[in-house]
Amino acid sequence: MRKGTIVFLVVNFCIIGLLVNAFSTLIGLLFEDGAADAITRAEIPAPGSDLIENRTQMIPKIIHQTYINASIPAQWKPGQQSCIDLHDDYEYKLWTDDKSREFIEAEYPWFLTTFDSYPFPIQRADAIRYFVLHFYGGIYIDLDDGCNRRLDPLLSYPAWVRRTVPTGISNDAMGSIPQHPFFNTVIDSLAGYNRNWFMPYITVMYSTGPLFLSVIWKEYLRVDRPPMEHVRILMPDEYKGFAWSFFNIVKGSSWHGKDAQTIFWMGKHWLLLTVSGFAIAGVVGACLWSLWNMWVMKGKRSSPGRKRMGLWRRISGGKERYELLDRMA
Ligand SMILES: *[C@@H]1O[C@H](CO)[C@@H](O)[C@H](O)[C@H]1NC(C)=O
Repeated sequence: MRKGTIVFLVVNFCIIGLLVNAFSTLIGLLFEDGAADAITRAEIPAPGSDLIENRTQMIPKIIHQTYINASIPAQWKPGQQSCIDLHDDYEYKLWTDDKSREFIEAEYPWFLTTFDSYPFPIQRADAIRYFVLHFYGGIYIDLDDGCNRRLDPLLSYPAWVRRTVPTGISNDAMGSIPQHPFFNTVIDSLAGYNRNWFMPYITVMYSTGPLFLSVIWKEYLRVDRPPMEHVRILMPDEYKGFAWSFFNIVKGSSWHGKDAQTIFWMGKHWLLLTVSGFAIAGVVGACLWSLWNMWVMKGKRSSPGRKRMGLWRRISGGKERYELLDRMA
């Protein structure tokens, strides 16, 4: 019985440790505004400005997008076309499910088992974008993001991601040179984060999605790095909503259908959902713990003469302490 209790406690402490660890990074994320690496409004030349030509361009001119297959749904076509039309000198790569798997098999065979093991297709769609940026470099854009202007000014940074409100970063628009250390870290971390959190939303967000990327980013920021290794941050106003913003959400796209609406809502409230997810996991843990206690108590009651002992005494047993006293005497 005592051995069982110890095992149970160790398991529980491990779970609590993991939760606290996850929470501490999440709490850290809340206070991480990315300001130190922000791409300031002042350094972005206006659309069409001659200044753009004077900047060194590091990121290759490639646009990556993903979809199940080559039949892009009608509501996303205008957004896709806006990016293609504005960038006729860029290479355009659409990563379908088939092409993605072939690419992983050929270039990152060590990842294929993890890639195939993902229970949700969206996890593969998340993962593939990190690998193609790592391999080819370029700019990844979600299909529901249209382009509002040419992306050339964003080629002048070794890597950039987009800041989300209230916290963290997103994986819906990102740019990078090939083999940037941040994306090295990202693809290296994917297998370790491939866990099932028993709620599809949390599982997707924390294994491959924006929460995963934000946590890796927060940890990446702990180390002092040379400028080339920094991940620059595209701030919300430069992302969308203004004449000088790079992207726009194609009208009517995300609002088609209940599913899209739910996903859109979840994307906006991912922090709230994540914290409540962990809180629910904590409550479930506490319930298991009290059930275990009740079960232990029932066992105790059926052995007469033994009173209920405190938690600590039940762990340490009491006997060992007498032995220790004996030895000391
Ligand atoms: C592409 O995928 C969609 C959604 O699953 C499906 O309805 C469509 O038939 C597929 N098209 C082709 C050409 O396979």
